[in-house]
Amino acid sequence: MKHLIDKLEKNRILTKEEFMYLIENRTPETAEYLFERARAVRQKYYGRDIYLRGLIEFTNYCKNDCYYCGIQKSNKNASRYRLTKEQILECCKTGYELGFRTYVLQGGDDPFFTDEKIIEIIREIKKGYPDCAITLSIGEKSYESYKSYFDAGADRYLLRHETADEEHYSRLHPKELSLSGRKQCLKDLKEIGYYVGSGFMVGSPYQTDENLVEDLLFIKELNPEMVGIGPFIPHHDTSFREFKGDNGELTLFMIGLIRLMIPNVLLPSTTALGTIDPYGREKGILSGANVVMPNLSPVNVRNKYLLYDNKICTGDEAAECRSCLENRMKKIGYDVVVSRGDIRTEAIKGE
Ligand code: 5AD
Ligand code: FES
Repeated sequence: MKHLIDKLEKNRILTKEEFMYLIENRTPETAEYLFERARAVRQKYYGRDIYLRGLIEFTNYCKNDCYYCGIQKSNKNASRYRLTKEQILECCKTGYELGFRTYVLQGGDDPFFTDEKIIEIIREIKKGYPDCAITLSIGEKSYESYKSYFDAGADRYLLRHETADEEHYSRLHPKELSLSGRKQCLKDLKEIGYYVGSGFMVGSPYQTDENLVEDLLFIKELNPEMVGIGPFIPHHDTSFREFKGDNGELTLFMIGLIRLMIPNVLLPSTTALGTIDPYGREKGILSGANVVMPNLSPVNVRNKYLLYDNKICTGDEAAECRSCLENRMKKIGYDVVVSRGDIRTEAIKGE
């Protein structure tokens, strides 16, 4: 087992069979070895720094019906909201004062926010906070739309591929959505010049270990700047409510593998990890992650942006989450830094 982990660190890739073997035969000991190597590799590029991203969940309206997601349009129990441009800017102001230098605008696929509106929001944020990076996470759009947001000042785009297997993709999404459409979007985003984040859920319904290997190989090929992976957690208003959600251990293992596969990649320790385990985010960092994404959304809408059950931090002010995370990171020996947190392409001198 260890020799495969060493091989992955050296070559930054394994064969499909080798990845399968590692995943299927993992033990707590091999996982610990993997995490040790992942931390060492992360240290080379990022030292003990943890990058912050301020997440602004600006709409929970969605025209799609992804079967896993709590804000799918068919969920009649979801209480829908949209933030105004002024509210979004207010979140940015709070965030700036708290030391955030990057904002992630995330929302459902909400036709109310036309390209024009999105562009205006991007421009205003950039005008007020020219030293901050803007990340969009608003789903599948045309090349032209992506290009217009980029030209307006958006820097990064998060679009998880969710699963790299066609058949599995079709079991998680209605027929209007396809893996090929998703891949086209990721290709367009890269071509336009965005820093791209992709990723997948671990333990989503019907997922096999082989699917996870396909996800790893897809990520390797895409070579994104960021990889967001988190455990699937069921939402009570979805058809996936009965599926189990205890996928933390496997998620951590995936984080470690991805760190070795793309040494300088930006890897968030996600809220979903923190939801299934009170120390999930710490464990994510100790498995090789280097980013946390605290919530900057106004408190009165937080309990409405529920993609899954029991989401943490829905009652806390942005400042509380900021200092909570700083303390948590400190306790495990890492420092939250005030920075745009761009991807580093060179190892730190002396490492
Ligand atoms: N459990 C975990 N993650 C989820 N997401 C959506 N629904 C769930 C769920 N039930 C993830 C998807 C999406 C991201 C914003 O949240 O991967 O891309
Ligand atoms: Fe939100 Fe700890 S990060 S309360």
